[in-house]
Amino acid sequence: MTSDKIPDWAANAAAAILQAVLKKDPFTFYHCCRVGQAARKLGIALGLPEYELALLEYSGLFHDIGKIGLPDYILLKPDRLNECEIEQMKNHAQMSVDIIRPLTKHPFFRHLIPGIRYHHERFNGQGYPMGLIGEKIPFIARALAIVDSVDAMMHARPYRLAQNWDYAKNELIVYSGTQFDPQLVEVYLDAVKKGLFDTQQSSDEVVIPTILKSA
Ligand SMILES: [Fe+2]
Repeated sequence: MTSDKIPDWAANAAAAILQAVLKKDPFTFYHCCRVGQAARKLGIALGLPEYELALLEYSGLFHDIGKIGLPDYILLKPDRLNECEIEQMKNHAQMSVDIIRPLTKHPFFRHLIPGIRYHHERFNGQGYPMGLIGEKIPFIARALAIVDSVDAMMHARPYRLAQNWDYAKNELIVYSGTQFDPQLVEVYLDAVKKGLFDTQQSSDEVVIPTILKSA
C-alpha cells in the first residue's frame, strides 16, 4: 500500500467537507481536526510510512463528519442523549462513509472507509456497528478508538466537565483489552511519556491541521 499515491486534491476535498462540519457544529469540526492530528502522531510512534500516516490523519479528520446528517435536536442537544437518540447517533459512522463515498473511486479515499466505519468497534466485540472482535477490527479503527476517546474525555460537553490526562490515562489502562487494543494502548502511553502528544489540551483550543491550512 505504501506505493499508493495521496491525490494532490485530497486536502482541498477535506477542507471543503470540513467547512460544512464547521458551519453545522464547531465542536465536531475541532474534534475531527484534533483526532486527525493525534491519529497521525500515533502512526509516527508506530514508525509507519507517510501513506499510512496520511490514511490515519484523513480517517481521523473524517471519522465523525456524518454527525452533520443527524437532526439538530440530537447533534446539538445540551443534555445526555436518551436510548433512542443514542441509537440514531450510532448511524454517524456509516453516514461519514456515505459523505466521502463519491471520492472513493480513488484508492486513497477507498482506504479510509474501514477506519471510519468501524471507529466505534470495541476490542472485546461489544462495539458497533458490527461487533467485530480484536484484530478483526481494522487497524486504523483500533487506532482511532484510542485517540478519539482520549480527545472526547479531555474536552467538556454541556452536560459534563473535561477530564484531565491522568483520568484519560487511567481509562485507557482500565479498558485496555476490552475497549481498546492493548498493544496500541502501550504504544500510545509510551509516546505520551516521550512527549509526542500534548496532554495539556484545553477545551477552547483551535487546532487546524497543516493539510487544511494549505488547502
Ligand atoms: Fe464517532
